[in-house]
Amino acid sequence: MSTKILVAYYSSTGNVHQLAAAVAAGAESTGAEVRLRRAPELAPDEAVAANPAWKAHLEAVSDVPDVTPDDFVWSEGYALGTPTRYGLPAAQLKQVIDGLGPQWQNGDLANKAATSFVSASNAHGGNESTLIALNNVYSHWGAIIVPSGYTSANPYTAGGNPYGTGYASGGATDTPLPDEYVEAAKAQGARLAQVTRLIQPLREKP
Ligand SMILES: Cc1cc2nc3c(=O)[nH]c(=O)nc-3n(C[C@H](O)[C@H](O)[C@H](O)COP(=O)(O)O)c2cc1C
Repeated sequence: MSTKILVAYYSSTGNVHQLAAAVAAGAESTGAEVRLRRAPELAPDEAVAANPAWKAHLEAVSDVPDVTPDDFVWSEGYALGTPTRYGLPAAQLKQVIDGLGPQWQNGDLANKAATSFVSASNAHGGNESTLIALNNVYSHWGAIIVPSGYTSANPYTAGGNPYGTGYASGGATDTPLPDEYVEAAKAQGARLAQVTRLIQPLREKP
């Protein structure tokens, strides 16, 4: 049976969406079954409509299903992605996390491999703090945190971030990511799937 990986993310203007697609592709390259899911939009329609890039991106990804708690239960490993919001994860992703109380209580999130990816506008504008904030959540969930580390050549050419792939967008909206970031995110997804497979014995019920 193939390894089940959930890639759940929020993106307003497409940068994190592209990272999510690359993480998913990397996991799939190892033979994993992957669900790519997005956090539902919480912002009012007027706010989205006032930002053409935000509106265009939301329309472009209307075929990506919203993530549900059942996706987390189904998964054996998960990757969470978010833009930085003042150095923290976006409220849309946090709302998903906060909706997982029953699954946390039931142990459905524990002993699963977990990793994160992020985009901030500035290189030093909160990529790392956002990734580390998500590690706090993983600790509560009893997940096994899978950092990118320097386990492939990619982190060196993609900003040197060992916590997870972090793309400094410079405020770009829906422009293709540089190849090195796509490759770093793919390597991260592959590593997540590999670790997920290795820790399978942890998830076996006695
Ligand atoms: C409310 C708000 C807060 C933000 N806070 C930060 C920040 O603290 N540091 C930073 O570098 N970028 C910040 N940004 C910029 C986004 O994180 C950045 O543009 C990111 O690439 C967007 O990803 P997306 O295209 O997937 O939505 C902020 C944007 C918004 C709307």
